[in-house]
Amino acid sequence: MTKKISAFIFDLDGVITDTAEYHYLAWKQLAEELGIFFDREFNEQLKGVSRMESLERILAFGNQAERYTKEEKEALAAKKNEHYKQLIEKITPNDLLPGIAELLEDLKKRGIKIGLASASKNAFAVIERLQIGGYFDTIVDAANIQHSKPHPEIFLTAAQQLGVPCVECVGVEDAEAGIQAIKAANMFAVGVGTKEAMKDADYIVESTADLNYESILKAFQQK
Ligand code: BG6
Ligand code: MG
Repeated sequence: MTKKISAFIFDLDGVITDTAEYHYLAWKQLAEELGIFFDREFNEQLKGVSRMESLERILAFGNQAERYTKEEKEALAAKKNEHYKQLIEKITPNDLLPGIAELLEDLKKRGIKIGLASASKNAFAVIERLQIGGYFDTIVDAANIQHSKPHPEIFLTAAQQLGVPCVECVGVEDAEAGIQAIKAANMFAVGVGTKEAMKDADYIVESTADLNYESILKAFQQK
């Protein structure tokens, strides 16, 4: 029997829109204020990772893990978030990444369920600004889960809410932690990014413009 895809579950930041860039800019500014070197290579390790865990990784990277109290760390994370919130204020429906509007439309027409699995507490605000809430049959964000990616919980929760078996789900991610979460949920992992960063994905595209249902289905059925 040929395998079928019943649902697509998307990550938000860096897949639907380029908020991964805004997270990068906001963390970079904070890190530099703390005297910690910060570049795009290190930033790869923060993609898909929760706000507090990201801060912990930055502090550890700068040998400052023990420098701040819990309250001070919360204040630092809040500062980054205020900056990030300013950056996302300029998002409009024109800020969908290339090919995303077409893919969402295509999936809807085919009757394939669509879910969102985002580690961000700002996910709803971003979706609202993009005006794409209507496409999603479920949205699971940081508020609904206990464990961050690479734990599979967020993808498992989305599949459960969609009423679809994991083996019929495709997850789309730009983060290493996200690809691990999809694989741990026993789903087919589509990675957006370099072959190096997305090495554990089942199917890789360099850009969202190359996300195409037919090509993904072919790779899914061959696996
Ligand atoms: C993920 C991003 O989607 O959300 C991470 O990839 C970010 O970079 C995380 O840290 C948490 O986001 P927020 O908006 O809750 O700080
Ligand atoms: Mg992402």
